[in-house]
Amino acid sequence: MPHDTHTRPQIDDLSFDEIDEVISPRAEETDFDRVVDQALSRRGFLGGVMTFGLGSFLAGTTLLSREGKAAPADRFGFAQVAANTEDTITLPDGFEWQPLITWGDPLFSDTPAFDEASRGTAASQARAFGDNNDGMSIFTKDGRTVMAINNEYTNRKILWGNNPDGTWVSEDDIAKGMMAHGVSLFEVDRDDQGQWQVVIDSDLNRRITPQTEMDLTGPAAGHDLLKTADDPSGRKSKGTWNNCGNGETPWGTYLTCEENFNGYFSAEDENHDVSAELKRYGVSAKDWGYGWAKIDPRFDVAQTPNEPNRAGYIVEIDPFDPTSTPKKRTALGRFKHENAAVVLAPNGKAVVYLGDDERGEFLYRFVSHGTYTAGGSNADLLENGDLFVAKFHDDMRGEWLALTPETTGMSDAEIRIHTRQAASAVGATTMDRPEWVAVNPTKAEAYVALTNNKNRGKKPNAGGDDTSVNGPNPRVENHYGQIARWMPDEDDHSSNGFSWNLYALAGNPDIHSDAYAGSENINAGNMFNAPDGMAFDSTGLLWIQTDGKYSDEGDFAGMGNNQMLAGDTVTGEIRRFLVGPKECEVTGVCWSPDRRTMFVGIQHPGEKGNSHFPDGGTSVPRSGVFAIRRSDGGLIG
Ligand code: FEO
Ligand code: CA
Ligand code: CA
Repeated sequence: MPHDTHTRPQIDDLSFDEIDEVISPRAEETDFDRVVDQALSRRGFLGGVMTFGLGSFLAGTTLLSREGKAAPADRFGFAQVAANTEDTITLPDGFEWQPLITWGDPLFSDTPAFDEASRGTAASQARAFGDNNDGMSIFTKDGRTVMAINNEYTNRKILWGNNPDGTWVSEDDIAKGMMAHGVSLFEVDRDDQGQWQVVIDSDLNRRITPQTEMDLTGPAAGHDLLKTADDPSGRKSKGTWNNCGNGETPWGTYLTCEENFNGYFSAEDENHDVSAELKRYGVSAKDWGYGWAKIDPRFDVAQTPNEPNRAGYIVEIDPFDPTSTPKKRTALGRFKHENAAVVLAPNGKAVVYLGDDERGEFLYRFVSHGTYTAGGSNADLLENGDLFVAKFHDDMRGEWLALTPETTGMSDAEIRIHTRQAASAVGATTMDRPEWVAVNPTKAEAYVALTNNKNRGKKPNAGGDDTSVNGPNPRVENHYGQIARWMPDEDDHSSNGFSWNLYALAGNPDIHSDAYAGSENINAGNMFNAPDGMAFDSTGLLWIQTDGKYSDEGDFAGMGNNQMLAGDTVTGEIRRFLVGPKECEVTGVCWSPDRRTMFVGIQHPGEKGNSHFPDGGTSVPRSGVFAIRRSDGGLIG
């Protein structure tokens, strides 16, 4: 099929958050900006925020000095790796890595191995590991082990690198890109050397794609806004895509989180006007380059304006039943879901923390109506519950604001479909792009990575909400990001009140001496930008992965490639564990059941054309999951 390229090249190189700016440009100078500018100049922003109390927002822990005095008996168990810009994975001495699976590797023996020349077909991709892996979990039952791994999006220039311009030329190219999205599930076992490997042809292997049949459950199911020609009942949905972070439940299911779902819709007439409700979610008629509307009218927003309402949810998957129908849990709200951090409250209710990753959007909490029963049926615990959004106060206190018909003026179903609008209605705190939330298994506290927000103090969010600096988001034009944490009242994650502070403000102390130098636990040896993936290991060590600028220049000089660090939440010390290959993001982490292997995701190496990771030479760079072990076989996490 011939296609026009004139709408594509200028956005092909942009990240999802940059595209949001293109799709919904906010006026450079608004009344809001003038008000903010006046407020900032009145208190002389950076100096002001320091005296205003930035120091008091920081953790009340024994932070190391900037020189980073060596801790004699630390709990990290590894020596810090220096930043670098090499095209490989760098680990501390005494650790080794090997690939587990990379983009295009078949899950079934009827599918050919990844072919560098063609880079596969739609048919092969539908039975092979998807592209750009992100969140992942590992499950064990009856002696069998299954991994569930998100395939968030595609590196189009690489996926279609067999074509002259690195764009699609056939419908099969578009379908190949589509099949590279979704979730890959497969069984793993150990080889003779004790290394984990994929079990090809296991009856547990499964690809979930944008075409997989799903159920819509919970308060929004059946609502008119979810009805389409494909499903007039409003209770079914087809497929999942842009699956970012993940979650796992105590009852053994996988949660996959639909993030930038909006970027796959378009219309023949790119000036076609979409509703204000869709605009709030960044849906537009402009093709970002995936071309899905060319092969499936569901993605033509002029023809199927309700299709975007069937995406943007948390999807629950049973990893041990490949015939099961995944369930979209509308009770957990609709937004650009990053991950889903599940914890049981003392009363047995399932609490799920959820971030909405866009500049100036919000942090949410779900509390189930039902309670968990060990060994019982918990299959519908995420079916119904209360949804809250976070309000942080500058006095280090905060509260979860309930999103109800009374507080929002919206119906229960509308709250689950237009969740951003509901949160705006109650005056929630605008955040610096909430990425992953991680819950400490050893203490009642939770952490959120606020990756960056160049609009902080400059522009409102897509709903027009105030994004001037606030407690957990204290820096205007925040280029580095921070990690905030909260401690629920009574050590109960279902309490509506909490205390909070900042665990770390990322920064560059070599370049800056103001708040952009970062907090005291950031030094020339461990600095990073854009914290994103986060997970606790079983010992309570916080693992932090970055998706930041890798130029190693200017504001980012000395930070090298994206990386993974570990944080001691008691002392505040942060130590770099891993440096990824060129132009990658490090995202997704889980542990083997015996904790002797840590699996780490490397996403989009060579996204700008400068990597041949992992195979080297002149090979096509590929995202993948890598198994990390201690050379002595010891515990890792
Ligand atoms: Fe897919 Fe917000 O990262
Ligand atoms: Ca992320
Ligand atoms: Ca990110």
